Amino acid sequence: MEYLKFEEQVNALLKKMSLREKVGQLNQQVGPCNEEDMKRLKDAVRKGEIGSIIMAHSATAGNDPQQSINMKMYEELQRVAVEESPNRIPLIYGRDVIHGHHTVYPIPLAMSASFDSGLIQQCYRCVAKEATADGIHWTFTPMLDLCRDPRWGRIIEGPGEDPLVGSKLSEAVVKGLQGEDISKEDSLVACAKHFIGYGASEGGRDYHRTEISDYSLYNYYLPAFRSAVNAGVATVMSSFNDINGQPVTSGYHYLTEILREQLGFQGFVISDWDAVHQLIKQGVCETEAESVALAIEAGVDMDMADGHYINHLEESVHSGAVPMDVVDQAVKRVLRIKFTAGLFEHPYSNKETLDKKEHLKIARQMAVKSMVLLKNDNQILPLKKSQKIALVGPFVDERRALLGSWTLDGCAEETPTLLETMIDKIGKDRIFLNKDLNGLYDNTVETAAQADVIVLALGESEKVTGEARSLSDITLSKDQIELIKTAKFTGKKVIGVMFCGRPIAMEGIAEYLDAILYAWHSGSATANAVCDILFGDAVPSAKTPITFPRRTGHIPLYYNVTSSGHYVNGYYNENPQYSYNDSLSSPYYPFGYGLSYTTFLYTDLQCKNKTLSIEEIKKGKKYTVAVTIRNTGDYDGEEIVQLYIHDKVASVMRPLRELKAYEKVFLAQNEEKQVVFELGKDELGFYNSQGEYIIEKGEFEIYVGSNCLTENKCSIFII
Ligand code: NOJ
Repeated sequence: MEYLKFEEQVNALLKKMSLREKVGQLNQQVGPCNEEDMKRLKDAVRKGEIGSIIMAHSATAGNDPQQSINMKMYEELQRVAVEESPNRIPLIYGRDVIHGHHTVYPIPLAMSASFDSGLIQQCYRCVAKEATADGIHWTFTPMLDLCRDPRWGRIIEGPGEDPLVGSKLSEAVVKGLQGEDISKEDSLVACAKHFIGYGASEGGRDYHRTEISDYSLYNYYLPAFRSAVNAGVATVMSSFNDINGQPVTSGYHYLTEILREQLGFQGFVISDWDAVHQLIKQGVCETEAESVALAIEAGVDMDMADGHYINHLEESVHSGAVPMDVVDQAVKRVLRIKFTAGLFEHPYSNKETLDKKEHLKIARQMAVKSMVLLKNDNQILPLKKSQKIALVGPFVDERRALLGSWTLDGCAEETPTLLETMIDKIGKDRIFLNKDLNGLYDNTVETAAQADVIVLALGESEKVTGEARSLSDITLSKDQIELIKTAKFTGKKVIGVMFCGRPIAMEGIAEYLDAILYAWHSGSATANAVCDILFGDAVPSAKTPITFPRRTGHIPLYYNVTSSGHYVNGYYNENPQYSYNDSLSSPYYPFGYGLSYTTFLYTDLQCKNKTLSIEEIKKGKKYTVAVTIRNTGDYDGEEIVQLYIHDKVASVMRPLRELKAYEKVFLAQNEEKQVVFELGKDELGFYNSQGEYIIEKGEFEIYVGSNCLTENKCSIFII
């Protein structure tokens, strides 16, 4: 409803607009690089032929070097729009501000590991403030593509493999960006993308086809988008992929029947870059005019970059190929958002002064809470500040990769390295350095000999993650694996700090490390956060939002699988030696897994009311499940308590575990708390293939513990 409150203004404006201007509102053009572009764009804006500009210069902006925003040019184009265009309609400027603007936060996959919606929302509030101060009105975030294939480079941008984690991330990002009131100057219009199914790209190859059953679509791929719509997301981007042979860009079923009619989305849909044109390459039409008709009738309101709407839509209306009403509806959707976002009141950049120090502080907290302690044999971590450390490896001095892919405005030069932050923490006298991979063996052995412990800075470049950067093999580079072995054979304890964008296949790596801190590409404060954790100034609490396979060949491997009728697969390939004959195929680290410096004991799991009828549940009655957690270790710490269900017998096979609730609790040493979860209709039903949400009778096993493999369970019954 929020987006319908300007109906009078929208209708009045629409009446005054020529068809050319209407089509102009649906046209997003690429931003200016030089004076020649400026001249061309100014002419078009003056005639009302452009509704939006994307502040980027290439389709894969996340990985291509981009110019920073030339404010003067953008302010001038806006001036022309609001002072000289026929109906003075402001332009809406969009930019990919994916996980930070000048201050960069962890990649979204890493933020998901924090299971901390409140902090994620806070980060995106800061993102909105920084971006609006640079004249950006709209960002193409959050990316909500559920993904079970870490070969896909874009896995860094989204929530990982779980629909609940995706839904929570979605709500937090939308609320953070759009703020409490989207019309405020420091609110950034959000865009949930890519609708829908792009994360299922076959083989992890980017821009590839997808096969998604309706059952999977409703239960796995859609929930995060439903959550974005419920949180009030103003725009949605359609995805490049086809689903079962239908490109989403021309998919009326997806963009209109599901997104608008079933999910209740009221904002506008933008295509992905050149996606309207790609309908020709995808083989569902022959001409540009046909591609335009297919896309707009499917529900794509605004055309990104390829200019096909502005070049063909008028003519298509005149020839009767596209009904006038279809264009009017699309224009109204765009205008509604421009009014609601307050663009008519404040078309230029937000002039508020920013506290970037505060943003960096929040980025550091977020980075600390995103890093997963995967291994800590004999409590080798935290290190003592008095220990002598051999700091070795290719990421010792790295800056750019720490920011991650999709950081158009983050500044690598201002991003501290691990070496710099470690010197700050413990002084340089106790650090022995080898950052050179040449002469690896000798240097590492020599360096290690002087130290008490070896810290290896390992990882992957941001250039092998992000858009169009998939990998066929997700292990570390050969020289890094050699380095790990060399370090191990010195006889010293070895700690691996891994700066990666995706889960790495851990076989042949983890065995040689005594401790592993999975630091991801965690943004501007990555290195500081690593040192906070390594030296015990912070206690790790993050959990894997995605399965870590042993080998690339085990992909796809995800926790919320159904039961096979045969023993060989077990749950999650847990039965040794059977799934594959040539390898142990269980996950290396399962979903929801992560260690702390302290330990937690779970006791007294109880389902307080064991039986409810379907009618009672539909009326809102709930089961109450309680568990007691005690901090039994030597540090204060946070635990992410996870509740999974297993619907034992249903009309279709249901997953053996589904995350349905989680809570992050802080416990001081020896402290004990009871955590109470409520389970009702939102947790216990599922979607059938027609998209109907159903609740069925029967027993549900309830698992509560510290990761998806917990055996701590009780049962409830729906009668
Ligand atoms: C293509 C990407 O798929 C999309 O996520 C991004 O927002 C656009 N390019 C604009 O850069």
